[in-house]
Amino acid sequence: MANRTENPLRCSTSKKSNDRLMLIIGTCAGIVIGFLLGTSFPASSLTKMNISSTIVPPVNTVHGEDEKPEKSATRSPPSKGINSSDAAFHKIWVPSNPRGAEMLPPSIVEAESDFYLRRLWGLPKDDLPEVKPKYLVAFTVAYQQRNNIDACIKKFSDNFTIVLFHYDGRASEYDEFEWSKRAIHVSVPKQTKWWYAKRFLHPDIIAPYEYIFIWDEDLGVENFDAEEYIKLVKKHGLEISQPAVESRKTITWKITKRIPGIEVHREVEEKLGRCNDPHLPPCAGFIEIMAPVFSRDAWRCVWHMIQNDLVHGWGLDFALRKCVEPAHEKIGVVDAQWIIHQKIPSLTSQGTAQEGKSAFQGVRERCKREWTMFQKRMSRSEQKYLKDIASASSKSTLT
Ligand SMILES: *[C@@H]1O[C@H](CO)[C@@H](O)[C@H](O)[C@H]1NC(C)=O
Ligand SMILES: *[C@@H]1O[C@H](CO)[C@@H](O)[C@H](O)[C@H]1NC(C)=O
Repeated sequence: MANRTENPLRCSTSKKSNDRLMLIIGTCAGIVIGFLLGTSFPASSLTKMNISSTIVPPVNTVHGEDEKPEKSATRSPPSKGINSSDAAFHKIWVPSNPRGAEMLPPSIVEAESDFYLRRLWGLPKDDLPEVKPKYLVAFTVAYQQRNNIDACIKKFSDNFTIVLFHYDGRASEYDEFEWSKRAIHVSVPKQTKWWYAKRFLHPDIIAPYEYIFIWDEDLGVENFDAEEYIKLVKKHGLEISQPAVESRKTITWKITKRIPGIEVHREVEEKLGRCNDPHLPPCAGFIEIMAPVFSRDAWRCVWHMIQNDLVHGWGLDFALRKCVEPAHEKIGVVDAQWIIHQKIPSLTSQGTAQEGKSAFQGVRERCKREWTMFQKRMSRSEQKYLKDIASASSKSTLT
């Protein structure tokens, strides 16, 4: 992961030989002092020494090691309030902490992060602008499409953190664009949008962002404005959405097609036989994965549903409805802010031709295979869950 702000103070890579010399001198001095300390205080006296904060930062484990932990049992009970020095003798176990962090005092736990860029100097509290970006947009891009990406990003205000996933490895070439400096660039060759999303858009990492756009690179945005889009999504309570599509080619799913003159729609009539239930995909509770927009909560669920090994995300769109309730109300298409799908084959040409199949064919086949695999996994998981529930309840009635 390469964060592309300038980083002039990388401590370990200072270019000037002067700096290097200082570093060496500093290191040597440290070793000598350490050695003197070690020899002048034998191990027994070291444990008795109350190491003050001038030498070592005051960490609980260093404090008062001369006292036996058993004593803590006879001390004043915790209800009276525990001194910080007492904390060392109380084993911490907080089950409500995030998994793996139970041994930490809860108020030090920072379970969430963000993509805000910080300075290397000054006070941390002054690092960020007063209005912090509260939305996030991530594009999966090749350099070839840079002009379209530039046009897209101009439709997203400063309220957006920009993330670019470069599947062709050409991240630094985006420097020509002014916005590139404040973007987060992740460059890993030949991976898909969902591969990146699973690895770099963990819900805890992007927790401050109210809405998350995870978009393809070949979208025309002449009739789209992100701030206006979010207003509509909020107004209509859409947790998972996409802008309506005008396409130069045929549209696979009718629900994505723009209906002029209205703000949003949530359902359509499909070809005969496609929908057994008008409230289910592809007639409702459905959007495509080309330009999805998730609310923070919806993304927290969807992220967990993305399979590690299934990289194309096919089938995911049919399952999104499992993350919101009721899906036919909270999943919808925004008509008033719409996009044009240019359908430029991009990642599909990044495969490898083999066994007499073209690169495109190979990728296509994997997409379809993944769709089947995902469907099977989902139905197996649901069946297993129902079975487990049934057996658990039958056990509880037996006892
Ligand atoms: C902290 O320790 C000091 C000295 O042992 C004691 O006087 C004080 O009451 C303690 N404070 C609390 C909150 O227990
Ligand atoms: C960014 O968000 C703030 C607060 O919601 C809003 O007032 C402002 O208009 C937004 N910026 C743009 C460019 O829309």
